[in-house]
Amino acid sequence: MLKCSLGKLAVRRSFSVLSSLKVAGTTGKSSQDDVKYEPLSEAQEAYLDRAIRVDQAGELGANYIYAGQYFVLANKYPHLKPVLQHMWDQEIHHHETFNNLQTRNRVRPSLITPLWKLGAFVMGAGTAMISPQAAMACTEAVETVIGGHYNEQLRCLTNQYELNKSDKTLGTPEELKELTNTIRQFRDDELEHLDTAIQHDSKKAVPYMLLTEGIKGICKVAIWTAERI
Ligand SMILES: [Fe+2]
Ligand SMILES: [Fe+2]
Repeated sequence: MLKCSLGKLAVRRSFSVLSSLKVAGTTGKSSQDDVKYEPLSEAQEAYLDRAIRVDQAGELGANYIYAGQYFVLANKYPHLKPVLQHMWDQEIHHHETFNNLQTRNRVRPSLITPLWKLGAFVMGAGTAMISPQAAMACTEAVETVIGGHYNEQLRCLTNQYELNKSDKTLGTPEELKELTNTIRQFRDDELEHLDTAIQHDSKKAVPYMLLTEGIKGICKVAIWTAERI
């Protein structure tokens, strides 16, 4: 069963409102008519709340992982400097985008944000200290998990957010379409990072399996935790 099954998300929400998305749900207009959408259900709002929280925490983590890699590798391996800088710049953009979404929709941040920063920087710098290939194996593992995570969210946003409109047709409010497009774009960026890591010898890292499987496990636990805490 898809994780996005909203029926399972009868979550009590205390201080996250999803204000602009909620407003969109009640007053969103189609391009032609003054059509209103039914409000989002509590489960739909709760899912969006969690999605924005975990994505903001994840992109913050990615930002710090690349910061750690860049800090260790950029001067020692000048040929990697522009490669790392490009991926880091994209993560900074992802992070800022989710910061804005979080603020605009009044989604509370993960309560252990300092831990995400520290853990991510240590993961990036630590693997970079082993070798450039180990840093790339870290990127490969992280982006594999994040790519899959974004794909799950895209499935859910596409399947579970068709709302009834006042003209008796179904549709999705513009804000939700924009969120979906943002996640789709970021998913593509993450998969580009995954390809870049493989092109830069991630598979030659020693010990490859231990690094990649360990980091994938850490990422999955981090996602589960950041959705909730
Ligand atoms: Fe990212
Ligand atoms: Fe990435």
